[in-house]
Amino acid sequence: MNIDSKILLDCAISAAKEAGSHALRNHSRRTETLKVFEHDVKLKLDVECQAIATRIIQSAFPEHAILGEEDAPVSDKIAPTLDNYQWIIDPIDGTVNFSNGLTNWCCSIAVRFNDTLASGVVYIPVSDELFTAANDLPAQRNGSDIHVSNTCKLAESIVLTGLDKNDGTALPPFEIFRTISLHTRKTRIMGSAAADMCQVACGRAEGYYESGIYIWDVAAAGLIINRAGGKSEIITKGANNRLSFLATNGKIHDSLRSLIPFAKP
Ligand code: IPD
Repeated sequence: MNIDSKILLDCAISAAKEAGSHALRNHSRRTETLKVFEHDVKLKLDVECQAIATRIIQSAFPEHAILGEEDAPVSDKIAPTLDNYQWIIDPIDGTVNFSNGLTNWCCSIAVRFNDTLASGVVYIPVSDELFTAANDLPAQRNGSDIHVSNTCKLAESIVLTGLDKNDGTALPPFEIFRTISLHTRKTRIMGSAAADMCQVACGRAEGYYESGIYIWDVAAAGLIINRAGGKSEIITKGANNRLSFLATNGKIHDSLRSLIPFAKP
């Protein structure tokens, strides 16, 4: 059964806006922590926001599967459902930023049918920016079409990235960071992959790369970049939904890609 992507998109918008607004309204509770890891935290608000998004999605599409960061199974198989629709939720992308009072964080929701992304939404509550796209609709920011930048030279580009902890399964992030920095105008680590990729989609930066990122961090924003005229690609797939992921304005894609070890030509 094929559902109109606009219907899916509208549901994703409601879910992302409700979840993101809940986090913003409850900003004073941002340090209420469920678990603390060496380099990460899990917040009560992460779980609450995912529950809000899930409730909205399930009331519209009770038979669809949900893959949410907060209770992701240790498997990257799509849960079998009647329709093979799967919603991919990161309730707060940039959790550590949020918890510390930094402003760069967002809510990211995508829906895919089998392996094809149908619609994606990234909502950045602090700046009230809503980035949207569907596979047959343009990428937009707050309802206006957006486009990637026209910059063709890596040397004139800004590349946004993150440094994962390198648990031995990912590519060596510090070396890649150094290499990218030497070849670009600037590299930036801003702490929210989905928000970073939306900056590329609307032409404020040229590329995003991370060697160890998760599907829920990049699914929605990857579609938004593609529909804004850019290019996104999984470089390598690890276990448990972990990816090495590259997304650019398209024009610098091959030059940036050539700096990444293990990216097959
Ligand atoms: C994290 C952010 C960060 C990236 C990490 C992600 P989370 O997501 O996107 O920018 O560098 O790799 O795990 O945990 O805040 O949802």
